[in-house]
Amino acid sequence: MKTQVIIVAAGSGKRFGASIPKALTLLSGMPLVTYSLKIFEHCKAVNGIIVVGHKGHLPRFTALCRGFKKVHAVVPGGATRAASVKCGLAAVDADTDIVLVHDAARPLANVAMVNRLIAALRNNKAAIAAVPVKATVKKVDPRSLAVTETLQRNLLWEVQTPQGFHKDVLVKAHACPFKGEATDDAMLVERLGVKVKVVMGDHRNIKVTTQEDMVMAKGLM
Ligand code: CTP
Ligand code: MG
Repeated sequence: MKTQVIIVAAGSGKRFGASIPKALTLLSGMPLVTYSLKIFEHCKAVNGIIVVGHKGHLPRFTALCRGFKKVHAVVPGGATRAASVKCGLAAVDADTDIVLVHDAARPLANVAMVNRLIAALRNNKAAIAAVPVKATVKKVDPRSLAVTETLQRNLLWEVQTPQGFHKDVLVKAHACPFKGEATDDAMLVERLGVKVKVVMGDHRNIKVTTQEDMVMAKGLM
């Protein structure tokens, strides 16, 4: 099965609050997006990498990708994460069977979890990396801040990337209009009635969202 990965790195990183896109900020001297490039370059089951970069910084993304043999396209992203994934999808080869999507904001993914994901895609149209939730999670009324429900923890998984899909499914999911913010690709696929299989991610595979996450990522490395 020919497998390509789209690394979405086109966000501005509003919550991170740096003057350059989050994917280009340095973690222990190396741009965040480079960590993901290394993981997928080393993963034998991955045949090609598409990087979706911030449109105002494309030359920098292109320069960073030099030296990674598997990168075959660096394309500008869109205004939302979903729009950026769509930009990446347009650069996927016609004969690709499996498309993985990974957030550049997760520099601590690893080859083992990518392999678990790809293995699950032999028998499933969609698979995502996730970890069991450690915290107690409650639903809260946004106005009054009163608790409306305590969710049953043993049913809750925190979803990560990479996420993987048979290409036809992902293309169809992104073609369907979606109201609101799609924070991952699986939620678009779930609407099609396609079963999404969960594989074990890694608790270290955190998403760098705010400055304090960078401190955590450094500690976890
Ligand atoms: N992303 C993207 N294009 C966008 C928005 C997000 O490619 N228009 C990517 C980000 O670069 C990141 C991933 O999607 O790798 C997850 O998004 P998030 O962590 O929310 O990053 P940002 O959108 O950049 O951050 P913020 O929401 O704080 O602005
Ligand atoms: Mg965002």
